[in-house]
Amino acid sequence: MTEPDSVEQAAVERVRAARAWLGDQVVILGHHYQRDGVIQFADYVGDSFELSREAAKAAAKYIVFAGVHFMAESAAILGRDDQVVILPDLQAGCGMADMAALDQVFTAWDELSEALDGHAARYITPVTYMNSAANLKAFVGVHDGVVCTSSNARGVLEWAFGQREKVFFFPDQHLGRNTGRAMGLPLEQVVVWDPFQPRGGLTTEQIRDARVILWRGHCSVHMQFQPRQIDLWREREPGIKVIVHPECTMEVVDKADYSGSTAQIIKVIEAAAPGSQWAIGTEMHLVNRLKAGHPDKVIHLLSPFPCVCSTMYRISPAALAHVLDALIEGRVVNQIIVPDDVRCDAKRALDRMLAIPR
Ligand code: 13P
Ligand code: SF4
Repeated sequence: MTEPDSVEQAAVERVRAARAWLGDQVVILGHHYQRDGVIQFADYVGDSFELSREAAKAAAKYIVFAGVHFMAESAAILGRDDQVVILPDLQAGCGMADMAALDQVFTAWDELSEALDGHAARYITPVTYMNSAANLKAFVGVHDGVVCTSSNARGVLEWAFGQREKVFFFPDQHLGRNTGRAMGLPLEQVVVWDPFQPRGGLTTEQIRDARVILWRGHCSVHMQFQPRQIDLWREREPGIKVIVHPECTMEVVDKADYSGSTAQIIKVIEAAAPGSQWAIGTEMHLVNRLKAGHPDKVIHLLSPFPCVCSTMYRISPAALAHVLDALIEGRVVNQIIVPDDVRCDAKRALDRMLAIPR
């Protein structure tokens, strides 16, 4: 019987051969949460902001995205008309992105308008996290809003407040709350919109008094990190530093020493002193890679149990080999297509984001 390792190795060899054959017709963009067997083939590795910037300037005809669906969609929006974006496994979605659907956001906007004298647009700048479907990016594009990522959320919120007095932020309540807090907004001015309650579960007064209205969405991977885990590490290893992704809850971010996007976490660890000890609260493939790449530092996953993004993990060497082999045969499989009208409006919101200094 064939061992699983040798099956994976065979797929890795197929990718290597296909990659060499296709040359610069293909660029592979890889997110930091991808497994090693995939990331080794990425021409660019980055956080979601950096990968969107790479997609916007990629020269290759084929952009193969080793990431999740919303990232590939953003590449298809930002890329040239003659480029083709491919997601090696179409099931690689994002549970958080799925928590906000366009019809729910339309309903919310109408209900917010009712509470604000019929004019949501006069008072609110909508901001969508990169982790959202293309049609939500188009919604914010049409409503003079903007996209943000975990690495630029503060600059984007500052821009948004420069436009209007309130921000409607979706789908990640935690990134929105953590960013608002870092800007000094009192928690009483930050409310949560529950899409399954009439008028989001809020009173007219709450909506009128709010500066930030957060969508009730979250990332189930980052929800696994708990403040108690930070206490336990500090009891066990005095002097340990804790760094977490801002998709973690406010209680975790407040307790941690630092928070930042995947790329920002990497920078902090790279700059850390030899011998320093770290507990990191983000997806474990990145944490394991940091551990392996920094043997002079002591690095732990913050939680005592594995935290895997199962949808990122769907991109395997076999999936990569499948789409690259198809290209060699002249076939495009798993292309991500964003309809022209959605693309045009979503691009406005992404371009606004890319123009905001970080
Ligand atoms: P980054 O933008 O920090 O890479 O995060 C993307 C993501 O999906 C985190 O869960
Ligand atoms: Fe989505 Fe969370 Fe996975 Fe990031 S880690 S892609 S937010 S499910």
